[in-house]
Amino acid sequence: MRLTSLASALAIGLLAIPMTGCDENALEPNSDSAVRPTASILTADAPNVELGRELYFDKSLSRNGNQSCASCHDPKWGFTGPNPAVNDRGAVYAGSFRQRFGNRKPPSAAYATFAPIRYYDYDEGLWIGGNFWDGRATGEKLGNPAADQALGPFLNPVEQALPDRSCVVYLVRVGNYSDLFHAVWGMDLTDLEFPKDMKQQCRRSTGDFDAEFSPEDEAAIDAAYDQVGLSIAAFEASAEVNPFSSKYDAWKAGMEEFTDQEELGFELFIGEKALCSACHIADLADSQDLFTDFSFDNLGVPKNPESPAYKSDPTFVDLGLGGSLFDLGENGKQKVPTLRNVGKRPGTQATKAYMHNGYFKTLEQVVNFYNTRDVKDVCPGPYTADEAMAADCWPAPEVAANVNSDELGDLGLTAEEEAAIVAFMLTLSDR
Ligand code: HEC
Ligand code: HEC
Repeated sequence: MRLTSLASALAIGLLAIPMTGCDENALEPNSDSAVRPTASILTADAPNVELGRELYFDKSLSRNGNQSCASCHDPKWGFTGPNPAVNDRGAVYAGSFRQRFGNRKPPSAAYATFAPIRYYDYDEGLWIGGNFWDGRATGEKLGNPAADQALGPFLNPVEQALPDRSCVVYLVRVGNYSDLFHAVWGMDLTDLEFPKDMKQQCRRSTGDFDAEFSPEDEAAIDAAYDQVGLSIAAFEASAEVNPFSSKYDAWKAGMEEFTDQEELGFELFIGEKALCSACHIADLADSQDLFTDFSFDNLGVPKNPESPAYKSDPTFVDLGLGGSLFDLGENGKQKVPTLRNVGKRPGTQATKAYMHNGYFKTLEQVVNFYNTRDVKDVCPGPYTADEAMAADCWPAPEVAANVNSDELGDLGLTAEEEAAIVAFMLTLSDR
């Protein structure tokens, strides 16, 4: 089908459908400034991007010198977790202290800088934007959610686990790109006075961190730490991380053909039967569509019984957006993730995990869940996705409140149509 007829099919087909869970204006071209107001604050000049890349891949910026951002957001895996054995089970990555775990699956760090600063859309009655599954990196501090986000992992005890922000600044100073930091930000980190035992203070696993600084150095360290976040976000906003170079992009530009199956998958994806694009917006009028409307929804995804969070506390539930806002009406809602690179990994066999808790292990399972959540029986126990598929049932939702029943659960897709939607999603991998 040609793009023009697809575009009009889009306009006629989907705009007429009442949608409760997502942005009703989602299929209009992104002229609305609220959609992407933030990426521009990140200076994309080459040295800043290069500095961000150094920081992103630097394992020394962790308590035990063993973990970088890329350890959980690897480019070869679509900027998500690169360990198939972890993905296959709990899907939660250990921190720099290997016995410490968070409770969520790493989402893609690519295409994340496009998220707007979190805001409440009064027309739609929906929260929009922010980073993290629950949107709590709002972007209000540094003007971009991804920049706010980047300040978190270095000090998070279940991630890179450094005891203090001055450690990040110190490790940059003693690392091999402090000249680059100086060139980009005009701050010479060798001017700062660190205590003699700074390295031990930053690396040791027990004991209090008690380094002290002059008020001037304290202020300089605060500024340098924010600059680290901004440089990482500049890298994350760069064309290197967001190349828009998938088969889908080439097809849209008229450079490449889809197979019949991929084309069927695309039509279903944007059509009224599967409704995917109601939330994961595919907009042919936009040269850089992101496959998300940045809203939040509770799909009724079951608990992942293999997650360390549930293993250590079977009563644990992830309240998502509701937990970050202390609002019962938002409980269970998670961020609509981009689907760019959703199938990307080295080879075709290695397992990736899907959804906030990594419950699903294949895209086939995901699409079957959208199609049959409300059709199959409820499993008698906390089955894994493999067990549920074998027993032809789905476990109860992790959070029973606010489950979206308008746009998913009983789509009436045939097996062939399910497979076509998966084939389409595999065209979204950057090359
Ligand atoms: C131990 C694994 C781990 C490490 C190390 C880590 N992350 Fe993450 N990252 C996660 C998890 C898990 C989430 C989701 C957490 C949540 O939603 O509460 C996440 C979320 C994100 C997001 C949000 C994406 C979105 O669309 O909402 C970005 C961006 C990101 N990380 C970038 C980074 C950067 C930059 C670093 C290094 C400074 C880093 N991460 C280090 C595991 C990790
Ligand atoms: C009502 C909004 C909505 C609709 C409609 C929708 N999705 Fe989603 N999608 C979401 C949300 C929200 C999540 C994350 C949910 C969670 O983690 O609990 C998600 C997650 C996913 C994921 C996992 C991505 C990842 O990185 O873990 C895939 C794959 C996916 N959706 C594909 C589809 C397909 C295919 C369709 C159409 C059959 C579809 N979605 C329809 C909102 C929606």
